[in-house]
Amino acid sequence: MSEPPTFETSPESLVFPASWQRRHLLDLESLSASEIRTLLDVAQQMKELTGGCRRKVQLLAGKTCANLFFENSTRTRNSFSLAAKRLGADTVEFGSSGSSVAKGETFVDTAKTIQAMGVDWVVTRHSTPGTPHLLSRELECCIINAGDGPHEHPTQGLLDLLTIRQHRGQFDGLTVALVGDINHSRTARSNIWGLSKLGAHVIVCGPPTLVSDRWEELGFEVAHNLDDILPRCDVLNLLRVQFERQNTQPFPSVHEYANLYAMDVDRMRRAKDDILIMAPGPINRGVEITPEVADGKHSVILEQVNNGLAVRMAALWLLAGADERERGITS
Ligand code: CP
Repeated sequence: MSEPPTFETSPESLVFPASWQRRHLLDLESLSASEIRTLLDVAQQMKELTGGCRRKVQLLAGKTCANLFFENSTRTRNSFSLAAKRLGADTVEFGSSGSSVAKGETFVDTAKTIQAMGVDWVVTRHSTPGTPHLLSRELECCIINAGDGPHEHPTQGLLDLLTIRQHRGQFDGLTVALVGDINHSRTARSNIWGLSKLGAHVIVCGPPTLVSDRWEELGFEVAHNLDDILPRCDVLNLLRVQFERQNTQPFPSVHEYANLYAMDVDRMRRAKDDILIMAPGPINRGVEITPEVADGKHSVILEQVNNGLAVRMAALWLLAGADERERGITS
C-alpha cells in the first residue's frame, strides 16, 4: 500500500499547479484523472495548512463566495461557507424561500443579480440537472456545482475519494461498492466517474428498481444482492433512499429494504476486517445503516465531513487562480 502524499504546511509552500486551467467545477465526468488527483493533492495541502481545516489562512482575502441553494443542505452549504471563510473570503448566503424568486424572478436573473454585487464564485444547488452548466455560460464568475438534481455532486465525490485515499493510499486494486438508490443519486454518479478514473473497481448495488442494468454497458459491475458481493468489498458507500425523487414506491416496505441492504452488525461480521464504511449523509439510521455501524470503528462518516472543507478550500483556490490567470491578474 502506498502512502498518500504529505506536503510542507506553510502558505508559501503552496504552488499553483501550472496544468490547472478550469474556472468552473461542474462535474467529475468531464475531469481527467490528473485533474482529480490535483484537486485531491491540493485538498490534502489545505487540510495540513489549516491544521485539519480549523485555522484561518488568508489565501483568498478580498474575494466573495455566494451560496445559491435552491434545495435543502446541511453539510455542503455550511462546508462551502466555512471553507471560504477559512481562506479569508467573504460569503453571501442565498436561499430561494424568502427571496424574490417567489415573485417570479428567473434562476438566471437571480444568479446575475447576486453576481452584480461583486462575487467571485457562485456555488449552486438546484433540483434541475444542468443548472450549474447553464450558469457557467451565462455568468462571468466561477461556478461550482453543489448538486444538480440526480446528476452530479462533484465536491461530494471528491471528499469521498480523499477519505478513501487517506486510508488506503491508492485506488488500484480497491473494490468500492455504492449501495442503495443509484438511480436517483448525484453522489453515486460523481463517485462512479471519480473512482473509475482513478483505477478502483466499482460495484453499484441495490434493488433492480433503484439500480439500472444500463451501468453494465458502461463497464461497471451491477449487483442486486449485497450479501453476495460483501466479502469482496474494501469500501462500502451507503446511499440514502431518495424518497423525495421517486414517482412510485421502489420496494414494498422500508423494513424489507433494510433486511436486504442495511449494513448491520451481522453483515459487518461477514465483511473484510478493514472495510471502510462511508455515507454521504444525511443518513437514515435503521434504513441503509444501523446505529451500531454508523457509530462503529469502521465508520469514517464524520471524517468525510471534515474532508469536505478541505476539498472545498481546494476547489475555491484552484478556480480563483485559473480565473485570475485567464484575466491576466498576477498576485
Ligand atoms: N451530502 C450532502 O450533500 O449533504 P447535504 O444535503 O446536507 O448538503
